[in-house]
Amino acid sequence: MCGIVGYLGKRNSLLILLEGLKRLEYRGYDSCGVVLSNNEEIYLYKKVGKVSELEKEVKNKNLDGNIGLGHTRWATHGGITENNAHPHYDCSQNIFLIHNGIIENYQELKEKLKKKNHNFYSETDSEVFAHLIEEYYKNNDFENSVLKALKEIRGNFAFVIFNKKEKDKLIGARFSSPLILGLGKEEYILASDPSPISLITKNVVYLDDGDMVVVDKNKGVKIFSFLNEKEKPLVIYQINWQIDDIKKENYEHYMIKEIEEEPKAVFNTFYKRLNFERLETNLKELNEIKEKLRNIEKIVLTACGTAYYACLYGRYLFEEYLNLNSEAEIASELRYRNYPYNEKTLLIVISQSGETIDTLEALKIAKKRNVLIIGIINVPGSSITRLVDKVIYTQAGPELAVASTKAFLAQITSLVILMIYLAEIKGINLKNKKQIFEEIKIIPEKIKEIINRKEEIKKLAEDLICFKNFYFLGRKFQYPIALEGALKLKEIAYLHSEAYPAGETKHGPIALIDENFPVFILAPKDSVYEKTISNLEEIKARKGKIILISDEAFEKADYVFKIPKSLEIFYPFLTVVPLHLFAYYFAKILGREIDRPRNLAKSVTVE
Ligand code: G6P
Repeated sequence: MCGIVGYLGKRNSLLILLEGLKRLEYRGYDSCGVVLSNNEEIYLYKKVGKVSELEKEVKNKNLDGNIGLGHTRWATHGGITENNAHPHYDCSQNIFLIHNGIIENYQELKEKLKKKNHNFYSETDSEVFAHLIEEYYKNNDFENSVLKALKEIRGNFAFVIFNKKEKDKLIGARFSSPLILGLGKEEYILASDPSPISLITKNVVYLDDGDMVVVDKNKGVKIFSFLNEKEKPLVIYQINWQIDDIKKENYEHYMIKEIEEEPKAVFNTFYKRLNFERLETNLKELNEIKEKLRNIEKIVLTACGTAYYACLYGRYLFEEYLNLNSEAEIASELRYRNYPYNEKTLLIVISQSGETIDTLEALKIAKKRNVLIIGIINVPGSSITRLVDKVIYTQAGPELAVASTKAFLAQITSLVILMIYLAEIKGINLKNKKQIFEEIKIIPEKIKEIINRKEEIKKLAEDLICFKNFYFLGRKFQYPIALEGALKLKEIAYLHSEAYPAGETKHGPIALIDENFPVFILAPKDSVYEKTISNLEEIKARKGKIILISDEAFEKADYVFKIPKSLEIFYPFLTVVPLHLFAYYFAKILGREIDRPRNLAKSVTVE
């Protein structure tokens, strides 16, 4: 994981690095560091803990430097110590670098370098790369030494490197980990995502796997592949994220801000893509693959974490409305399966960040087998968007809290639109098309209604705060939502919570039920309502404490949170909202680090 940012230009890099790191902190936050340099000095500071701690330490030191690197870490190789924090450097302390990813053959390289008298101060794989460059730098050609070193390493990485002896130059390289170049006026910035870049410019170049970029104050920018050494043209894009989207405003946490943005995430994702008068979709982004899509006979959906639950939702949706053979598979499993893809399979990959390594790897395997692939992605220009055949961008805006919330709503919205589109091109008569269009239009308002009742959920969290275990049960479209409710509570409140398809409870889970085991039952009035209510009865008979989320009252539940009426496929848009709010308030009462939960990172770029 880890977030990296490098700057070269005319300003004091320290302020940009610190602000950039705060924006990248969702990628890892166990330790951090910066290095900057002016003509005379090198200033290197590392800290265990958050960027705000580092900021306190360096703020009043009058540090200055037009070139600098910053890093926020999620530990992989080596414990959480200052020595293991980045930036790392070589024996001569000339080469400084920041790294995101893993160098898989670092042990072997370290042994070789030790024999050549290199001394190591950390347990990291990253430090090895600084010494490897040093080894080749004996010929005094910085660019070439980085190139040679890159050819020797295996794994996934994004690096930004500077050399004390050539301070007009910044070198970046990537393979499987993200790196974006920002082009300002006589200033450059390299970072893991667009958020630090938007501090100085909207002009960006997305680097591809195998790219090395040399940024030179006097000569400008050169990009080439370190795999075949061929130079590449600069393709400049504009980022459209607004600074305000990234601000916390008056909210205490990003998570609650993002939950409150759920109605907007749904609306922004559908409004340009649906024609409400003609009851038609407008998915221009798929025009070029329309013919291929018409012929698909099977859909495979894959992702990790919350995005995987969106896949499960999609599976029910495509089966139900398109009568298409559909499967949802966790990406870290799919990539090791010998999956029988054929020319009539469509793979859909879903990811907020567009960088999750397991999702990326699963898609690379399918790509090698010429499978048609659509990405449902939130971050523009991210690695997955560059590999899939076509992208449907979710319009959730930047999501910064580690636990995903609004992106999930935008993902399931995209799936509904895609389902309608597939029905159109395949000539399938949707059973309740008019109602679907009518309902999606008002679903943001219904979500808002629930959010306006957040005090009720807060009170529920207060009432249940003494419990240490929770079940979440749901059937069919509500099963993915049960999984999402349990995951959220685990992620940010560190509570034991599990989800089951409601019908499965009697095959084991019910053994744990007694008066100390609260169970959330998701039972809107859909096609499986009565079956789910029977499961509720079974739990009640064993004295379980029941929290029912439904549009129907039911006297046997200990607590009922009523949601507005809707269609079966839209109930998940409503039942998930109180669960997001519940996890938020539960974690808040427990005093957890809501936006930066322990041991987690938002963008998981290690396997
Ligand atoms: C991490 C995050 C989750 C997220 C998952 C997948 O585990 O903490 O909130 O759902 O990664 O991330 P993606 O960016 O691929 O949607």
